[in-house]
Amino acid sequence: MKFFIDTANLSQIREAHELGILDGVTTNPSLMAKEGIKGEAAILYHYKAICEMVDGDISAEVISTDYASILEEGKKLAAIHPNIVVKVPMIKDGIKAIKWFSDNGIKTNCTLVFSAGQAILAAKAGATYLSPFIGRIDDTNWDGIDLIAQIANIYSIQGFKTQILAASIRNALHIVKCAEAGADVCTCPLDSILGLLKHPLTDIGLAKFLEDAKKTV
Ligand code: E4P
Repeated sequence: MKFFIDTANLSQIREAHELGILDGVTTNPSLMAKEGIKGEAAILYHYKAICEMVDGDISAEVISTDYASILEEGKKLAAIHPNIVVKVPMIKDGIKAIKWFSDNGIKTNCTLVFSAGQAILAAKAGATYLSPFIGRIDDTNWDGIDLIAQIANIYSIQGFKTQILAASIRNALHIVKCAEAGADVCTCPLDSILGLLKHPLTDIGLAKFLEDAKKTV
């Protein structure tokens, strides 16, 4: 399973990258706004900075919702760097645009996915990645991980090539469960990635080893 970081914050991206386990980055308009990035020039510049930091797929989301504008915006984003993946919402014009991007060699990430039916449609359109939103499904008292498993099963039976990119990750357990359920990629906040490090027995064990090591010097 590939690890992407789900943020537009450059210092968090750098920290995850320095761990040596980072395969890519996802952003969305809310994450860009959180960093105070405003205006087309600043947005394009910020994506360029991310691409220069991480050598992996970088999702940049369109904010257009009609076919012609999604194409125009997506082409502009794709021109920033070969690693840019155009992130397109799961709407009718979005599916048409994903098909066009796919036919024209531009990578896509179909976002805001909450059902297996949507997952089938995105795969048929040729999406490179599909982003089911685990945490937001959990918030509605359904199990987001069940959706990952269901889509993984369908894609395997049907031979679809679209990669399942589990999104809206809220904690380290989500990451483990996504790996078990067959996600190809997990995009996570930095805290959830660092949460994978933690186990109280590791801390107790290390403290004891370091204490005993004093007897050996
Ligand atoms: C990433 O691709 C998604 O936009 C993101 O994971 C959504 O996360 P949230 O539900 O925490 O906003």
